[in-house]
Amino acid sequence: KNPDENYVITLLKVELDPKAVKEAKYQHSKKNYTKKDKKKLKNELFKEAAATVAAESSTGTWTKVYDGVDSGIPLAMKKRAMAFDLDYEKKMFKVAYPVELFELNNIPGLLAGVVGNIAGMKMVSAMRVYDIRFPRKMIKAFPGPKYGVEGVRKMLKKPKQCLVATVPKPKIGRTDKEQASLAEVLFTSGKGTYDGIKDDENLTHLEFNDFYKRAKLVLKEQDKAEKKTGNKKFYLCNLTHSSIDEMLKRADFIKKHNGKFMMMDVVTTGMTAVYTMRKKNPGLAIHAHRAMHGFMTRDNSPGIHGKGKLYGFSVSMIVLAKLFRLMGVDSLHGGSPLAKMEDYDEAKYIQKVLQHKNLEKDKKIPSLGQKWYDIKPVWHTASGGLHPGDIEAVLDELGNDILIQCGGGLLGHPQGVEAGVMAIEEAREIYFQNVPLRKFVKDNPETPLAKAVDHWGYGPKIIY
Ligand code: 3PG
Ligand code: MG
Repeated sequence: KNPDENYVITLLKVELDPKAVKEAKYQHSKKNYTKKDKKKLKNELFKEAAATVAAESSTGTWTKVYDGVDSGIPLAMKKRAMAFDLDYEKKMFKVAYPVELFELNNIPGLLAGVVGNIAGMKMVSAMRVYDIRFPRKMIKAFPGPKYGVEGVRKMLKKPKQCLVATVPKPKIGRTDKEQASLAEVLFTSGKGTYDGIKDDENLTHLEFNDFYKRAKLVLKEQDKAEKKTGNKKFYLCNLTHSSIDEMLKRADFIKKHNGKFMMMDVVTTGMTAVYTMRKKNPGLAIHAHRAMHGFMTRDNSPGIHGKGKLYGFSVSMIVLAKLFRLMGVDSLHGGSPLAKMEDYDEAKYIQKVLQHKNLEKDKKIPSLGQKWYDIKPVWHTASGGLHPGDIEAVLDELGNDILIQCGGGLLGHPQGVEAGVMAIEEAREIYFQNVPLRKFVKDNPETPLAKAVDHWGYGPKIIY
């Protein structure tokens, strides 16, 4: 009745393993199974699977154990998680965990419970964790973003409109110096309104592109361009490393050279790294890239939205986005309804997960909603295959508190990099002047924006 006070709740779907169904039939040792018998048996098994998920992820194990003096059984019974809201058709259910089962500010500990071992259960052949809902006490135990949407707007003196940035392509190839030259072009071309440059995820501290040199040189260009154009600029400088100490050292270096953001890959570095960087960072906004998430979040089975079969084991990006907002990143790659590898409705819901205060359940996506209390909203970064012809649609779908990243979609402009900058400047400018993109392109066929649209069109680019 009062989930926000007492429970962590998860929402899941499972697929029963045909072998488990066969074995159950055998154990019932009934000769002729009618359709009705089969359905009943499957329903029983589904109920058992849901209860097993709740047990294994909270206080139970697979068999009855010693329950005498000092066995812990009475408390375990009291604190056990319960499966509820079982949907026998879709094989979906929720699990409610009494919040006392968890240390309030310990995400690895929480995950070791709620998603720890359940994907190993042999009675199911597939499982997806769609969502998690945190109670007030847990939300209050975390800081959330230090800057969030408003803090970054203040930092950049940009009270409205989206932000635009570019990842140098090739992903790796430029030297530190070459990257700084590109930063200069991005920051100062056209009207000088282009906001940012971002490292690609696999660019860290390499032989030919030294982190420290790169940070220093690019941040120098940032400062120069700010003076020249009168506009604030930013560099999402990738400090991802196996060592948290090294990341902190790199964060200090960025800060010392006037940086505003650090970028870290939050899935590969892990929950503890994210939280530690949030707590110890020297006053930088955190831009979170999510490399590798697809191996956890992606599921192409027909039953992904509830109805139909599931084929694999996955945890949704909604769950990850909630965890990263809670731990306090300021900007997160959340996909785009037009990007090269996203689920349209899910990307739209992720924007709400990152930014709404009282998040409602979604009508199209299995979800639980969330009250965020004082946790600030996070920038939603839309990236992957985007180009100027997409900007209007992305803004229409995701709103203005987004960072649009065009890598190939700027550097691949047929008239060169400066024209790429101008095309994106134009696309943003006309959007906020309420000029429809198609009309602008028709009326101004010689502009960089029109040339970009000639080259890439309006739709998404499904590259790989
Ligand atoms: C990123 O890190 O955001 C990507 O490398 C996007 O690159 P693209 O804009 O060329 O798809
Ligand atoms: Mg990338």
